[in-house]
Amino acid sequence: MNILSIIDKAIIKHGHETAILKFLPENRYNTDIFKTTGQYDWFSGQVLYCLVRYLQPRRIIEISTASGYATMFMALALKQNNWGRIDTHEINPKAAQSAENLFAVHGLKKYINLMVGDARKTSINSPSDYSIYFLDSIHTEEFARWFIEQHVMRSERIDAIFHMHDILPLTARVRRWNTPPFEGSDLDPSYRIDQTKRFKYRIRKLLHLRTDEIEDTVQIQTYPPNDGEDLQTFDGNCTTEAIWGNKLVDMMPKEDHLFLYDIADSYSLLNPREYDQHAIGRTDSKGNPMEWNESLWCKVAAVKSAYTNLNKAKNP
Ligand SMILES: C[S@@+](CC[C@H](N)C(=O)[O-])C[C@H]1O[C@@H](n2cnc3c(N)ncnc32)[C@H](O)[C@@H]1O
Repeated sequence: MNILSIIDKAIIKHGHETAILKFLPENRYNTDIFKTTGQYDWFSGQVLYCLVRYLQPRRIIEISTASGYATMFMALALKQNNWGRIDTHEINPKAAQSAENLFAVHGLKKYINLMVGDARKTSINSPSDYSIYFLDSIHTEEFARWFIEQHVMRSERIDAIFHMHDILPLTARVRRWNTPPFEGSDLDPSYRIDQTKRFKYRIRKLLHLRTDEIEDTVQIQTYPPNDGEDLQTFDGNCTTEAIWGNKLVDMMPKEDHLFLYDIADSYSLLNPREYDQHAIGRTDSKGNPMEWNESLWCKVAAVKSAYTNLNKAKNP
């Protein structure tokens, strides 16, 4: 089955259950509950819940937990399944403690094994039979490569699926912190890099990230306004992970990967735009607040062969 069909069937079967998840977006910025801000959009969360309900996984690996926002969507689904466990890793002890508290309050502890520390150490002895490989950590190419080498390439399950967060298709046209236009962007590429650094500073403050978690900088391509609009846009990808992730996707058959950005308006019964007004720093091409649904889902088998081919192409 292709990845769109899997997600479609999961939504058809379990989409009606997702109203029980609304307390999550409603408390997304409540620091009494989430010590660090959860950054997982409403439709992405609904899909995540439905996938876990539909696939009934025995094991999920997640890097990183932060304060448990995305973990909650998965764990609440496991609770409904009455089966399965998430191995999740987080380097920030305060965020991890906040997550543990939340899991306890919702009676989810038996579904979650939270390991505190650098995932590059804490996950080394993990099993190789996960059904879902969930990556939402430091958004660098280096870290994504590490996760794929260490976990995805060792995966033994033919039906396993992979998730990367904070990535959009190259065809996306959005605005961040009410830009672009990036100052001088049509004149000198180095200006674009400066602007990217400024975004990253603001995002680091918002997410309470440490300085060593600042992501690498990338150049941003801007696009002129569409007919009838007067704002410039870009594709929303501003990390080395997202740029590299798109190269990886480019090596995969179309049916083996899916950007949720592309389908978020296809499931109106789920009310996927209910929390768009709450989006911080993210807008559509007209400057209206918008959840971008920055989630990429792929088949693990496709990730493995794309990764091998991408490396071959780099080192022929
Ligand atoms: C984008 S946030 C994760 C958001 C989370 N999925 C949620 O739903 O709120 C990235 C997290 O990665 C953590 N992190 C960064 N480097 C890490 C590492 N080497 N090992 C484990 N966690 C790490 C950060 O502390 C931060 O909490």
